[in-house]
Amino acid sequence: MFGIRKRQSKNHIELDKNNIPCHIAIIMDGNGRWAKKRGLPRTAGHGAGADTLVKIARHAYDLGVKCLTVYAFSTENWKRPEEEVNNLMNLCMKRLPQIVDLMEHRKVAVRFLGDRSRLPEPLVRMIEAEEARTEEFAKTGCFLNIALNYGGRDEIVSAVREIAVRVKENELSPEAITEEVISSHLYTAHCPDPDLVLRPSGEIRISNFLLWQSAYSEFYYDNILWPDFSEADLERAILTYQGRSRRFGGV
Ligand code: IPE
Ligand code: IPE
Ligand code: MG
Repeated sequence: MFGIRKRQSKNHIELDKNNIPCHIAIIMDGNGRWAKKRGLPRTAGHGAGADTLVKIARHAYDLGVKCLTVYAFSTENWKRPEEEVNNLMNLCMKRLPQIVDLMEHRKVAVRFLGDRSRLPEPLVRMIEAEEARTEEFAKTGCFLNIALNYGGRDEIVSAVREIAVRVKENELSPEAITEEVISSHLYTAHCPDPDLVLRPSGEIRISNFLLWQSAYSEFYYDNILWPDFSEADLERAILTYQGRSRRFGGV
């Protein structure tokens, strides 16, 4: 109807190719519960979650998504046992090259969002090298943003500090601080705000993710644990998004 084709059959979801969300953000949650259900250590769940990231990223870009932002480690995740934190940092080092190879092949630029000062030095060096490896693709407008030691509040604090320095140095007047200026000081300055925020695992909370940027995002929650999240689940989320009416405060 009205030129928009949306149909869902048992195994096939037909999406409206003209209404694919430009930017999808995912809270990759439920790895620990996935492992527990199988009698495995939590670390096995994180490994399986990394496999899911590869699969879902590939499918998202195939569908025409331009920016994908994934929450890999929050500023609050340091509260976890040291062993789990170390394992997560090592997993990043181990899996990053493969993920970036895939992005390079797809001409997608990889960026890391978050405070790097607390990350292990070898990981920081790797992040910088992997960003440099795909930087030439920034011009395509396609990005994979990996949020690592990321917190929405922490991001706003660092943006405010940077802006305060500019004001102090008479580079900017207080009246010139607009929403655009604030957005341009966030880690996501290179991307539009997310159209769709997905959270698998059954939790219905934002957990300090993209607080400023998600002001008008559509939210989608799912009970599936992240390691089990499939291409069809992504399509279902997009189909739901396509059925929403975004009004941005209008009528
Ligand atoms: C998400 O899975 C991964 C990280 C937060 C690093 P969890 O580890 O939070 O899994 P659950 O929520 O305990 O199942
Ligand atoms: C959010 O998940 C952070 C990531 C997925 C990286 P958490 O598992 O840390 O969030 P809470 O503690 O359930 O809110
Ligand atoms: Mg969790």
